[in-house]
Amino acid sequence: MPHLIRSCEGLITYLFQGIYDIQSSVVILPMNEITITRPDDWHAHFRDNELLKETVSASARQFSRSIVMPNLTPPVVNAKMAKAYEARILAARPEGSDFTPLVTLYLTNVTTTDDIKDAKEQGILAAKLYPAGATTNSSSGVNDIEKMYPVFEVMAKNKMLLLIHGEVTDGEIDIFDREKVFIERYLEDIVKSFPDLKVVLEHITTKDAVDFVKGSSPNVAATLTPQHLMLNRNDLLVGGVKPHYYCLPILKRNTHQKALREAVISGSTKFFLGTDSAPHMKDQKESACGCAGCYSAPAALELYTQVFDELNALDKLEGFTSHHGADFYGLPRNTQKVTLVREAWTIPNELEVVGSRVIVPFWAGNKVTWRLK
Ligand code: NCD
Ligand code: ZN
Repeated sequence: MPHLIRSCEGLITYLFQGIYDIQSSVVILPMNEITITRPDDWHAHFRDNELLKETVSASARQFSRSIVMPNLTPPVVNAKMAKAYEARILAARPEGSDFTPLVTLYLTNVTTTDDIKDAKEQGILAAKLYPAGATTNSSSGVNDIEKMYPVFEVMAKNKMLLLIHGEVTDGEIDIFDREKVFIERYLEDIVKSFPDLKVVLEHITTKDAVDFVKGSSPNVAATLTPQHLMLNRNDLLVGGVKPHYYCLPILKRNTHQKALREAVISGSTKFFLGTDSAPHMKDQKESACGCAGCYSAPAALELYTQVFDELNALDKLEGFTSHHGADFYGLPRNTQKVTLVREAWTIPNELEVVGSRVIVPFWAGNKVTWRLK
């Protein structure tokens, strides 16, 4: 009964994965619990005002720090706005929380080198490049990337990181090719022209991006989201459109998903956690013209853990969630620990956030196999 034998072997490996030393045959402990350095989220959208209570608490539950995206309306375009936004986020933290928001600057066509210097003086670590029209709230973004080179030069000198939404917006370019074309048209030249500039290619979705980042200098890194690790475009489109899986850059074919999954467990320090958690109200997602973005913060760490577990790579989880990002940003690693236990639970279908308005969290109604203690 070869089939039965294979399943038994599978079961044994499953039960004792990662803790079973084949050479000595010593079984230490079943991998039902994992303790790691408290993680950080290097890409999150908190929005503003009445939504902050929800978004900040959801992130503070698991993360020590979050890089907070500046695509508010109006966008956070200077240090003064960024510091005011930071204060609103700090005021929305749950009681006793020491969560640290790391606010960022939104680059526009009229951003000046003085804006950068001023932001740096105020302790702002990074600025975000949105090609105009690429995604949610990006209409104030950049039209001509080369015109930004003087700004990039000052960023490099001042050791400010450049965070990039890497998609072209040219109507001629197919939505599934927009990341690849951005790399070829713009990113290759940016990293060549500014070798000292630290660049994070945000929420990568393709093998092309993985290969580009791997092949670049140590000053180039990437964040990866739970949805792009867990899903591909079939999940979005086969058997009906799933608006809650619609985000930008859009989910790609399964070969790309596979490349992303391989990248995060490769141990390369160039890849780190960035949820791109991006809440939109349910009615705005379930609409004839639905918004792009998945609200993953309520279970982000658990979902990443699930992915690493599926890939038998829980030993690579901590680097990705808690070390690589801090090291790349030049910040100290967190000293606190968090523990996850193997325990199934179901993500709620809806979260009531503002009055009676609701958000459907990412992976709503589905099982998660790990829970944060
Ligand atoms: C983000 C949002 O809603 O702000 N949406 C998304 O689909 N990821 C913006 C972004 O990061 O592209
Ligand atoms: Zn984002």
